[in-house]
Amino acid sequence: MPLTVVILAAGLGTRMKSRKAKVLHRAGGRYLLEHVVRTAAQITPPEHIFVVVGHQAEAVRAAIQTVGVRFIHQAEQKGTGHALMVSAETLAPLGGRLVILYGDCPLVRAETLRGLVAAQEPHDAAGAILTAIMDDPTGYGRVLRDAGGQVTGVVEQRAGTPEQLAIREANMGLYCYRAAPFWKHVAELRPDNPAHEYYLTDMVEVLRRAGYAINPYQIDDPREVLGINDRAELAVVDRLLRDRKVRELMLAGVTIEKPETVTVDPDVSVGMDTIIEPFAQLLGNTSIGESCRIGACSIIRDSELADDVEIGAFTIVGTSRLERGAQAGPFARLRMENHLDAGAHVGNFVELKKTHLGAGAKSMHLAYLGDSQIGAHVNVGAGAITCNYDGFGKYPTRIGAGAFIGSNSTLIAPVAVGEGAYVAAGSVVTSEVPADALAVARQAQVNKEGWAAKRRALGKRR
Ligand code: UD1
Ligand code: MG
Repeated sequence: MPLTVVILAAGLGTRMKSRKAKVLHRAGGRYLLEHVVRTAAQITPPEHIFVVVGHQAEAVRAAIQTVGVRFIHQAEQKGTGHALMVSAETLAPLGGRLVILYGDCPLVRAETLRGLVAAQEPHDAAGAILTAIMDDPTGYGRVLRDAGGQVTGVVEQRAGTPEQLAIREANMGLYCYRAAPFWKHVAELRPDNPAHEYYLTDMVEVLRRAGYAINPYQIDDPREVLGINDRAELAVVDRLLRDRKVRELMLAGVTIEKPETVTVDPDVSVGMDTIIEPFAQLLGNTSIGESCRIGACSIIRDSELADDVEIGAFTIVGTSRLERGAQAGPFARLRMENHLDAGAHVGNFVELKKTHLGAGAKSMHLAYLGDSQIGAHVNVGAGAITCNYDGFGKYPTRIGAGAFIGSNSTLIAPVAVGEGAYVAAGSVVTSEVPADALAVARQAQVNKEGWAAKRRALGKRR
């Protein structure tokens, strides 16, 4: 039987107090809606997934990367039921079964959806509704049942009597309906509630009136399907998604210290026996090899680390590649497009931009290396700076293998230092240094014998 999934994402989400549509907020490293679409794509092909858009429709469409998903426009948002009413023309002819999801419910897993679909089968029911017992169901619709335990309806927070609001079984907002009865009766929804909206939840009553049963599908843990309506709930769901990811890594052989403080985006991979220290953030398309150490509070984005790489505490790495055994930090910043060859080492307060460090090269303290090609085993002294920008353009610096760049030297690009050459500390290098040469580009030292003693004597006499 064909399975259509429709995801409602047309609302603004007033309770978020945001200029941005709710489904475009992020949790667990993805847009809320993206999570739901990806999960839906695990139970049906993308061409059977329809997203109802309205508020900021263009931005919402752009946020969905799953190719082939289709869209329905709900120009005016008159409620979750109205979102389905405007979809009838497109979806009713498809027949089969209809799974309805809300775009603000990113935790849902494919297994749960499969369970929901299966729950619709018994008793020839018209549909199944996913419910859970919540400690505090405030804000959720409450599930009404008759004496025999049959679901008879859902009452929204705003419309519930005190007795109804005391019910702790909540509507989690996931449904599976047989398409034929659903589309036949959807036009019977009425906006007769305090919000004057067409509530999708009223379909339970509408179909019961038409003589159909609706099966409850009660799950044990509401944390699997929590919805997000405000920023506090956003933070809770973000944490739950982060926990899932770090747990997955731990079970795959990664040591994570104080995992509740660590943030790992969904597409990040980490090899066995790597140790991740507290408060580290591994973001975007990052891949980390085996037996690495990621220091406390470091942030690594869109980067590739081979095996045995060590990142010291408080180090920031963006779009860079570090080969086996390379080290960076503590307190280093590898801004963008850097490449550290095997065993290269960058220490505290060193900033790199578009720089290649050859195997075993070192820059241990207080340096800025930008647009630089640095050969193997070069030593860059403390405080060395490449002046790669003259206010108009950016220029390269090349340092040959085995060269030694003295502390506090200033290399004014474009410039090259030959293999094995020395640059004396404090030099301002403006032209090429030949291989194996020593460049001294600073004033020669003058010692004035006895000068200080004479100065003091003069001072006393005054
Ligand atoms: C809804 C349910 C409630 C349930 C809760 C679970 C209704 C009436 N209530 O309440 O029983 O406990 O979800 O999280 O359905 N949307 C549209 N078009 C509209 C209105 C909403 O596409 O006209 C979309 C929103 O963008 C959102 C989703 O539908 O993604 C749910 O809307 P929301 O306002 O969050 O409903 P809740 O008040 O959470
Ligand atoms: Mg909601």
